[in-house]
Amino acid sequence: MNCIGVIGYGHMGSMLVNGFLSSGVLGVDEVVVTSRSQESRDACAAAWPGIGIARANREIARRCRTVILAVRPQETTEVLREIVPGMDGDEHVVSLAAGVGLTELEGLFSGSVTRAIPTITSTIGQGTTLVCHGRQVGMHDALRVEGLFSSIGNVMLVEEDELPAATILSSCGPGLLAAVIEELAGATARASGLAPDRALCLATETAAATAAYLRETGETPGDLVGRVATGGGVTEAGVKGLRERLPQVFDETVAAMLVRYGAVGK
Ligand SMILES: NC(=O)c1ccc[n+]([C@@H]2O[C@H](COP(=O)([O-])OP(=O)(O)OC[C@H]3O[C@@H](n4cnc5c(N)ncnc54)[C@H](OP(=O)(O)O)[C@@H]3O)[C@@H](O)[C@H]2O)c1
Repeated sequence: MNCIGVIGYGHMGSMLVNGFLSSGVLGVDEVVVTSRSQESRDACAAAWPGIGIARANREIARRCRTVILAVRPQETTEVLREIVPGMDGDEHVVSLAAGVGLTELEGLFSGSVTRAIPTITSTIGQGTTLVCHGRQVGMHDALRVEGLFSSIGNVMLVEEDELPAATILSSCGPGLLAAVIEELAGATARASGLAPDRALCLATETAAATAAYLRETGETPGDLVGRVATGGGVTEAGVKGLRERLPQVFDETVAAMLVRYGAVGK
């Protein structure tokens, strides 16, 4: 009964199960998983011999005190409605769904509810999971969930009104930065004789090294630009062009994402 249940073995559900089990924070006898398709349930059982597999969502509710909903936003309220009749009310529901608010979740389940927004980079134990606890969540449940997500990267506690902006940075951010890396490598390859795969390799390594440099030195991005972009040099020419155009591009990008965020799950 004290085990962790995961409903939905898709990208996020499988990443969490893999992360919690490979980090050793949980053992296979402490996790029960279910998913809509037999194929996903079989994949989980094959990946983690000995793990608990439930045939139905309601079985998770009966067997687990902490239930992670790793289904898509439009499926989250439907699944919660389905499992609530089998719950005592003292369980802790953790929803990963973007755009499904605590008020809506607490309206369906009167017990403890937390929203957690992981990121794809948690696959390699990096990046930040955003955690936002509802009013009913006690200290013990809060710490248990924060401890679980700490096993797959950093955890940042946020207020619910901070979630849209924080999600853009932590959870959508890897997609945004990957697109930037792709464009930088593509433009460099198009403008030169450098092979596209070699350009992409260099751009990816440079992005990783730049992030590591900023994190380790504590310098701001502006400090780093100042070090690299010497007067009249090549970097300065590039940075000047970006600084003229990027603020508008990113303002429009973030504004469009916030609009879309408000529509997710509706
Ligand atoms: N992807 C990201 O980077 C990311 C980041 C942060 C948060 N999130 C949130 O995480 C959640 C899951 O996203 P995802 O990318 O993992 O989606 P996904 O890959 O589509 O996985 C969703 C899983 O839910 C299962 N499912 C659907 N309906 C179900 C039901 N009625 N009962 C049981 N299982 C059901 C599906 O099962 P079958 O495959 O077995 O049919 C599928 O495997 C979403 O709410 C999303 O907003 C995602």
